Amino acid sequence: MEKDIYILGIESSCDDTGIAIVKNGREVLSNVVASQIDIHKLYGGVVPEIASRNHVMNIDGALNEALEKANLTLDDIDAIAVTYGAGLLGALIVGVNFAKSLAYATGKPLIAVNHIQGHICANYIEYPELEPPFVCLVVSGGHTALLEQTDYINHKLLGTTTDDAIGEAFDKVARECGLEYPGGPNIQRQAAQGSANITFINKPHEKHTNYNFSYSGLKTAVINYLHNAEQRGQTVSVPDVCASFQKEAVDQVITKTVDACKNLGYKKIVLAGGVSANMALRTGMEERAKTINAKVYAPKISLCTDNAAMIASKGYFNFINNYSIVDPKTLEAQSSLPL
Ligand code: KG4
Ligand code: ZN
Repeated sequence: MEKDIYILGIESSCDDTGIAIVKNGREVLSNVVASQIDIHKLYGGVVPEIASRNHVMNIDGALNEALEKANLTLDDIDAIAVTYGAGLLGALIVGVNFAKSLAYATGKPLIAVNHIQGHICANYIEYPELEPPFVCLVVSGGHTALLEQTDYINHKLLGTTTDDAIGEAFDKVARECGLEYPGGPNIQRQAAQGSANITFINKPHEKHTNYNFSYSGLKTAVINYLHNAEQRGQTVSVPDVCASFQKEAVDQVITKTVDACKNLGYKKIVLAGGVSANMALRTGMEERAKTINAKVYAPKISLCTDNAAMIASKGYFNFINNYSIVDPKTLEAQSSLPL
């Protein structure tokens, strides 16, 4: 029988400090997330400097808690995996320096993980039987990307946003509607009370020749709608605005993802990233995927948003493939990474 492999994952790319321990890439032994949402809510969005400072305050305690919950010590860990990009530079530096020191002090291998690839791996935890290849939609606060994941390491980028990320559009529209950060879950809650009776982008999506996305036009159309109503002294139905925005926002990614899956001849669609927690996206994708006999995979809600278990899972697949094992003296955080 092969030896079990325990990976310690570290995540600090935005406003969640995460430390997790995952066995063999798919079994979560502990997944500690110290959320800063209540702090950033006061400012209407993530304040990078405050995020970095809170990572520094939380990270030691998160490590101890993760080891305790997994009933392991650092001696039991085979390798340390850390998000080194993309994300807020100051926030990333905290996790990267912590991981470098830990790897240096313990002599354990250090594995550099791309945050976006980490999000995809949340699905390997959720579905122990899931294997590449598949078509994958990564939708988060910073990314909207359609990928063809060919194996556990390699992927091809099929399309990305030409302007705003979908999560960014959810957060900005929410703010304009007077809803708190993070906007996505609040838009979803409001949308459930409204009906999608407003058309913001007045032309049907043209027959597309590529898999790129665009969200700034939709975001601006919603903001203009709200401002025009305000200038005319008209009251708007926030639930209807949210339902209409949400429908147009998710329709765009659903259409292109299902098209890509059909054109490439796959039967598996994998969703990843914070916006994949959105129920309209999940149910809409499932309905449309049925028309091409494809199955949709999406992590449970707590694994959709930022966490370190997904980073440990990706670390495991990198480790067993001898990929992205780096020198703890030289690894540097990167605010942006190629998709
Ligand atoms: O992946 P994530 O936790 O962080 C980044 O890597 O960006 O994604 C955060 C994003 C935010 O824009 C948040 O509003 C959005 O995910 N989000 C949602 C939902 N839950 C989180 N968007 C729509 N519907 C949701 N239920
Ligand atoms: Zn993320």
